[in-house]
Amino acid sequence: MKEVDLVIRGAQVVSPDRIVPAAVAVAGEQIVAVGHDDTMPPAREELRADGLYLLPGAIDSHVHFRDPGYPHKETWKTGSAAAALGGVTTVFEMPNTNPATGTIEALRIKQKAAEASYVDFGIHGLLGDDTIDRLEELLEGGVTSFKAFVGNTFGNLPAPTDGALLEGFETLAPLGIRTVVHAENSSILQRRQKQMQAAGRIDAMAHLAARPAVAEIEAIGRVLTLAEWTGARVHIAHHSAADSLYLLREARARGVDVTAETCPQYLLLNTDHMRTLGGVMRLNPPIREPRHNQPLWNALMDGTLDMIATDHAPHAPEEKTRPNIWECDCGFPGVETQMPLMLTEVNRGRASLMDYVRWSAVNPAKAWGLYGTKGVIAPGAHADIAFVDMSRTGVLSQNKLQSISKISPWNGRAVQGYPVHTLLRGRFVMREGRLVQDMAGWGRSVKSVQRMPTAKPRNTEHYSSAILRTPPGVPETATPVGEIDWSRA
Ligand code: DOR
Ligand code: ZN
Repeated sequence: MKEVDLVIRGAQVVSPDRIVPAAVAVAGEQIVAVGHDDTMPPAREELRADGLYLLPGAIDSHVHFRDPGYPHKETWKTGSAAAALGGVTTVFEMPNTNPATGTIEALRIKQKAAEASYVDFGIHGLLGDDTIDRLEELLEGGVTSFKAFVGNTFGNLPAPTDGALLEGFETLAPLGIRTVVHAENSSILQRRQKQMQAAGRIDAMAHLAARPAVAEIEAIGRVLTLAEWTGARVHIAHHSAADSLYLLREARARGVDVTAETCPQYLLLNTDHMRTLGGVMRLNPPIREPRHNQPLWNALMDGTLDMIATDHAPHAPEEKTRPNIWECDCGFPGVETQMPLMLTEVNRGRASLMDYVRWSAVNPAKAWGLYGTKGVIAPGAHADIAFVDMSRTGVLSQNKLQSISKISPWNGRAVQGYPVHTLLRGRFVMREGRLVQDMAGWGRSVKSVQRMPTAKPRNTEHYSSAILRTPPGVPETATPVGEIDWSRA
């Protein structure tokens, strides 16, 4: 047998339906064999991993690495180092940088910054009123997907009008491209916030009062209506409220291709923590009352929610601790703490490691068209592996985070279960809990391996935005979309 680069022995390999003791052989960037010890080829390096679990590297669909624009909050190098330390091998990065990722020029700047990444990445381009004419150009330029900030948040990007959202979905539906939506109703948020401010409220609870669950329910409902009408694929970001889960269930039952994430903070924190954490906890959508925690957990268990993402949203400590809640920036880092937090819940018996792998790797890989190449430990897949020690205990410390943003609501929290090594395409980016410094730049875009199966656009008997882009020279009379050659549209 031909010599390979690495054989890992003694560990248990985790997939969504089983945990099996198996050896894993890696040649170059790929897994080439998973099986019994005796069947492994000779290897340049043999690694004993007794007592450890091998999980497909986590895929975080929602991180903000702030670069370009806010390098004092985070850079690609620091954010991706945090990912590597957290057992995360692929991230999808958000467009609310400065410049926002809504033009080819801005995309090129981001791609340049991403050259420093320790982990693989996708880039969500911006879907807004000003960018809907550039969606195909951005896709050709390398974005993997889009993000629509339907609710206002950091960066103050204007929410797309419903008309623009519909038109964007019409363009993206036949391409099979999924759009992430920050689903909160901007008009409700803005009006409520003004009222709170006029009443002199500057406390942390006022932020929650300004962003009631109904804002999320309304926006998710609206987005799903437009997705159903057009056949576009959508992804609901940071699902925070128990009350909007029924919308996901009903839309799926009607055939809408919707995926949804929640984050550890919505599962494990609630208003009871606000007294001690105040503005540190401020994020959008807000962390809500205790009654939301368990239904969100149940929704992960029953598949209503597909995955865990983090909304890694770093800010400087002084930007998070101002006495006036309206002056505290929204969000906090999370890509490095997600795995220990969730593994702790697994250790508590709230889910199995197989469930966790489904939420952290399998389902995000499927949603973004990477499954088979990523999200699985099997021959032919990228050798992206989080080596996990389920017995290791510790206390999360914000000062030790790789992120520039050394402020976290998880500071001081006891955990059990840590990633101890992270392998990305056959190379260690984290080993024995330490970043492998010279692997900065090993990360690359997943665009070249992304395969979004074509989707069926719906309601094509109606005139869609494709009409507006019919090249000059074709007859003035509009052609029904059903007769359009989508490869040219
Ligand atoms: O709290 C948040 N912060 N929510 C978001 O959606 C964006 C994020 C940020 O970029 O800071
Ligand atoms: Zn976000």
